Amino acid sequence: MRILVTGGAGFIGSNFVHRRLATTDDHITVVDKLTYAGNPANLRGLADDPGTRERYRFVQADIADEPLMKELATDSDAIVNFAAESHVDRSILEPTAFLHTGVMGVYSLLEAARAEADKRDGRFRLLQVSTDEVYGPVPEGLSVESDPIHPTSPYSAAKAAGEHLVAAYHETHGIDTVITRGANTYGPNQYPEKLIPLFVTNALDDETLPMYGDGMQRRDWLHVTDHADGIATVLDHGEPGAAYNICGDGIERPNRAVTKAILDHLGKPWSLVRSVPDRPGHDRRYALDGSRLRALGWAPQTSFEQGIALTVDWYAANRDWWEPIKSGEWQDFYQKQYAWRLEQSTTA
Ligand code: NAD
Ligand code: TYD
Repeated sequence: MRILVTGGAGFIGSNFVHRRLATTDDHITVVDKLTYAGNPANLRGLADDPGTRERYRFVQADIADEPLMKELATDSDAIVNFAAESHVDRSILEPTAFLHTGVMGVYSLLEAARAEADKRDGRFRLLQVSTDEVYGPVPEGLSVESDPIHPTSPYSAAKAAGEHLVAAYHETHGIDTVITRGANTYGPNQYPEKLIPLFVTNALDDETLPMYGDGMQRRDWLHVTDHADGIATVLDHGEPGAAYNICGDGIERPNRAVTKAILDHLGKPWSLVRSVPDRPGHDRRYALDGSRLRALGWAPQTSFEQGIALTVDWYAANRDWWEPIKSGEWQDFYQKQYAWRLEQSTTA
């Protein structure tokens, strides 16, 4: 298959690209705007390695550039769209880019898919990587794919808008689309603004870990390799027009427990943790029913205990990856997001 992987220089997209090139004969064109979160280091080696260099190329571009997306789609059989602004806290501070990429960007890719599908008797697939956050908070039970979506943050609202466009193009134009709704994901190469990489890197430097509110918000964590493999399963076997949840290991953990696991693995004290004023509109719980994807043969392979140990060890061994990131733009964001919160922090 020839795949256009958009947002492929980010955390999950780059993992998908590495795994797909290693396990198939696919040809992959990565399109990435290289925002603050896009990192060419995540794709290191692919352009030179004899096993991949003939099957890989990189194009720096915005997915909202419709003429260019149409041109690139002519050389592809499918688009897998990872591109998005992906951090909830940033969507609260500055939502514009979330809408640009999540709405106009997705629309541009759908138009590219439509143009190709028209030429090829419908044989062109678009996979939209979405999130469990479109369901909104789930006080009890598990979200199934037919549940109504009820996003509560500007991030999840932009992702939901993208999903609605994808569903509309499937219904109206008959485009072969599939959607994945992955759970909270963690692992190596994740930009250190999300809970796990932020807390791991802060703990490595003996800095404060800013826990929002009571820390009893719960998530079912999904290791990045399992997420990437779930997306590959849906790309290869998903039913046209369907959405698929990609759940974690099925054990929900409050943020306190995740934090404790990180500190225990590093041998660092709980006194590094401070409770800070909560994120507005904070969803207390997400939980997914993963049976639809399991029926396609996928199952998560990494337990949280294994995954968190691997992840913490990776950040400890790869300071050259994250130390340069935690400067410049990251510092500006950190000050805006946390300076006043840390001033008001209390014992956790
Ligand atoms: P990320 O922020 O690490 O990567 C996003 C990538 O998209 C970056 O490389 C960035 O440069 C690129 N990008 C952003 N806007 C672009 C644009 N307009 N044109 C081209 N490229 C652009 O995010 P991630 O954590 O890897 O998430 C990837 C996808 O998975 C997102 O769509 C996200 O909503 C979804 N998702 C993430 C999680 C999670 O926990 N991280 C969970 C479920 C779903
Ligand atoms: P995050 O990694 O931002 O993912 P999401 O908001 O998409 O679930 O946050 C995961 C959980 O950790 C969420 O409940 C918010 C919480 N959190 C903190 O307590 N402190 C922090 O500094 C961050 C970034 C997150």
